[in-house]
Amino acid sequence: MGSRRKFIKKLGVTLPALSILGVQACEAEKETKGAVSVSKKAIKPVVISTWKFGFPANEKAWETLESGGRALDAVESGVQVPESDPNVSSVGYGGLPDRDGNVTLDSCIMDESGNAGSVAFLQGIKNPIRVARLVMEKTPHVMLVGKGAQDYALSQGFKVEDLLTEKARKRWEKWKTDANYQPEINVEDHDTIGMVALDKNGDLSGACTTSGLAWKMHGRVGDSPIIGAALYVDNEVGAATATGKGEAVIKTVGAFLIVELMRQGKSPQEACEIAIQRIIDKNPGSKNFQVGYLALNKQGETGAYSIQKGFTYNEFNPDKKEQNQAEHYYETGVRTY
Ligand code: GLY
Repeated sequence: MGSRRKFIKKLGVTLPALSILGVQACEAEKETKGAVSVSKKAIKPVVISTWKFGFPANEKAWETLESGGRALDAVESGVQVPESDPNVSSVGYGGLPDRDGNVTLDSCIMDESGNAGSVAFLQGIKNPIRVARLVMEKTPHVMLVGKGAQDYALSQGFKVEDLLTEKARKRWEKWKTDANYQPEINVEDHDTIGMVALDKNGDLSGACTTSGLAWKMHGRVGDSPIIGAALYVDNEVGAATATGKGEAVIKTVGAFLIVELMRQGKSPQEACEIAIQRIIDKNPGSKNFQVGYLALNKQGETGAYSIQKGFTYNEFNPDKKEQNQAEHYYETGVRTY
């Protein structure tokens, strides 16, 4: 992480001290070469994504980014990897169903021009992110839901498929016999895939897609299709994405908050930490659920932070292809909803 915090630590002064000295945040981010101050060079391309299943998703996105392709194409193709994988039980095909046995999917996408597309409560369509992109590019709307979203997908040549795999159906049957009717999140150290990328041209885009909480109420929609909650991109500033308990992310408009904090001069890491703190301040029960944020700014600097330990994320740039554990607020590692 190339955070401003670390840079300022090296200077041995605090942020307030810098402002007293009249040093603007953007000045603090400049490097000094001899007597000349020059703007920090952007690292690009960069792609970051949530959870272990994001690593192969990053590999797919990297093919596009490395060859000079558009961040939008990279994130759309990247998140389709877990969407199509029947062994990933929290995204797309193979996702765990709601409490009535229906797999319902939420996805959104945002490009470098601020265009956005989203689908929610979509059933029977394996790659909802592709439908979200079509909503963005081919309709006058941002969001389609439920049967309307499915009808639109069919009109664009998609086929309805049964997304409930045998493995997921067996888990649902077992859950019904336990019958405590509580939704679950992060039971297997994963949840939504959120991915944001910066391409060689210096443009940002992002995508986010999930089957949401296992055993949720029929009709429940989480943060993943909500522009500003689980995903936000501002090409002048940066991009952010979220995973975890969608209700907490929606109520604090997490991704938008992070991008606005970066606009005010916070590093991606600082912005993620402040946004997590906001959730903790507003939720006395925050010890019992997980939210994780990722952020990427226009310079290619990244941030990652979560409420609980165990939030894995993936970061690729020309110098590294890494899977890391995010810094976190509590040590408890609670996995319940
Ligand atoms: N973050 C996924 C959800 O709450 O549905």
